[in-house]
Amino acid sequence: MTKPATTTQAGAPIASDTHSLTVGADGPTVLHDHHLVEKIAAFNRERVPERNPHAKGGGAFGEFVVTEDVSAYTRAAVFQQGAKSEALIRFSSVAGEQGSPDTWRDVRGFSLRLYSEEGNLDIVGNNTPTFFLRDAIKFPDFIHSQKRLGDSGLRDPDMQWDFWTLSPETAHQVTYLMGDRGLPRSWRHMNGYGSHTFSWVNAEGELFWMRYHFVSHQGVEAMGAEEAQQLAGSDADYYRRDLFDAIQRGEHPSWDLYVQIMPYDEAKSYRFNPFDLTKTISLKDYPRIKVGTLTLNRNPENFFAQIEQAGFSPGNQVPGTGISPDKMLMGRIFAYPDAQRHRIGANYNQLPVNQPHAAEARNYQHEGAMRYQYNGAAHRTYQPNSFGAAGGPEADPSKGIEANWEADGELVRSAATLHAEDDDFGQPGTLYREVFDDEQRARFIETLIGQGRSITVDEIRERFFQYWTNVDATLGAALRTQV
Ligand code: HEM
Repeated sequence: MTKPATTTQAGAPIASDTHSLTVGADGPTVLHDHHLVEKIAAFNRERVPERNPHAKGGGAFGEFVVTEDVSAYTRAAVFQQGAKSEALIRFSSVAGEQGSPDTWRDVRGFSLRLYSEEGNLDIVGNNTPTFFLRDAIKFPDFIHSQKRLGDSGLRDPDMQWDFWTLSPETAHQVTYLMGDRGLPRSWRHMNGYGSHTFSWVNAEGELFWMRYHFVSHQGVEAMGAEEAQQLAGSDADYYRRDLFDAIQRGEHPSWDLYVQIMPYDEAKSYRFNPFDLTKTISLKDYPRIKVGTLTLNRNPENFFAQIEQAGFSPGNQVPGTGISPDKMLMGRIFAYPDAQRHRIGANYNQLPVNQPHAAEARNYQHEGAMRYQYNGAAHRTYQPNSFGAAGGPEADPSKGIEANWEADGELVRSAATLHAEDDDFGQPGTLYREVFDDEQRARFIETLIGQGRSITVDEIRERFFQYWTNVDATLGAALRTQV
């Protein structure tokens, strides 16, 4: 078969991809070798900045099918019984850079996009139902403590434990992280959680607080620390490969989506503050209700275009879903699109993976670097205008239903109101004593002994003992004798 001719970016055939244009065989290279210059210039611009957290990841496409009737809680088309939506998922590690080993102990990202007929819904969560912090203002400090030292450029256990032990609200998530969830067998073998409390609104306008839980059909399985360490050296892309190969073999991983629903009025008096994502909402108090099934069945054809340039945001909600007064979540609404305008470009939303697929973007946002489409606003770039439907779209309050909760008070900088059972160490203690089984507890203690030994500053090690004593007195005492 004859190959098609190689061309410049402008489509003109080129003479050679092997020899630059020179003055004689041994002479200088000439600047008017347009193809050479274009080729090297394009190469020089291949990288976009990596995501600040969650730089290393991989993903796939699939579909989400709603099998149950949850219309009592949400009017969102994407969650009506029988609805089927195209899905995009990206799994990731938090702290490591793009080339970092998949099997370093870490929390894992679980970012899901559902391309719904009412726009893209993004659920940008983790494989844990909680998080380290409860106020967005601490997030950059937390990530800095997970990354690298300013002088040596090295990762540093002292820095991590310094931050964690000075921030007691981290205890619940650190308990998850040092337990089996910190080393999943694969991305297929973990659950996904929206983690925050979000809101759902039904057709009558009634508001509910809710949390998303994706439960793996593959089971939740961990990897031993030794195997993880060995794989970190021999196959840094172990999870990425596992997902791609499984889908290629036709083994399509799947998850059932469940939700926890809390009636609007119960949030104020619930024993834990539901807008504090360092806490879980007890499954005994609010059992899981099944919604449907997510199946991954299609690998990316272009990793860079479809996975690296995917821009997820918890701000991508649809009519019938919304955010909540969680102070982390509100910070995230700003953070993601801002990061993506910087990382990918001002019009990142026009890239095929970021555009709505089952709906259309229509507004009067205009021009900017790389924009090539009107957003459905014909040639009018302003509203109101006098040209009716031909002049472009119009906002419709009956369609753009938003979560609507009360908020008032003076401007303050303060911790949120404490609920009856709110404290930083109660839930991690329960996780350690009642949720972990004996084997999980044994692995957890072994991990903490290793972590404690890696701390080189006495003051931080002392706080490490105190932190775990606060979680569980016997655990603290055991660590004191064994570290
Ligand atoms: C205020 C707190 C937070 C801030 C400011 C923040 C900020 C960011 C930023 C800037 C990115 C990179 C986005 C990009 O370049 O595309 C990111 C990625 C990510 N974050 Fe957060 N984050 C916060 C909290 C959280 C929480 C609580 C979770 C999970 C419950 C989370 C899960 C993720 C995930 C999964 C990604 C990767 C997204 C992807 O796959 O593209 N983050 N975060």
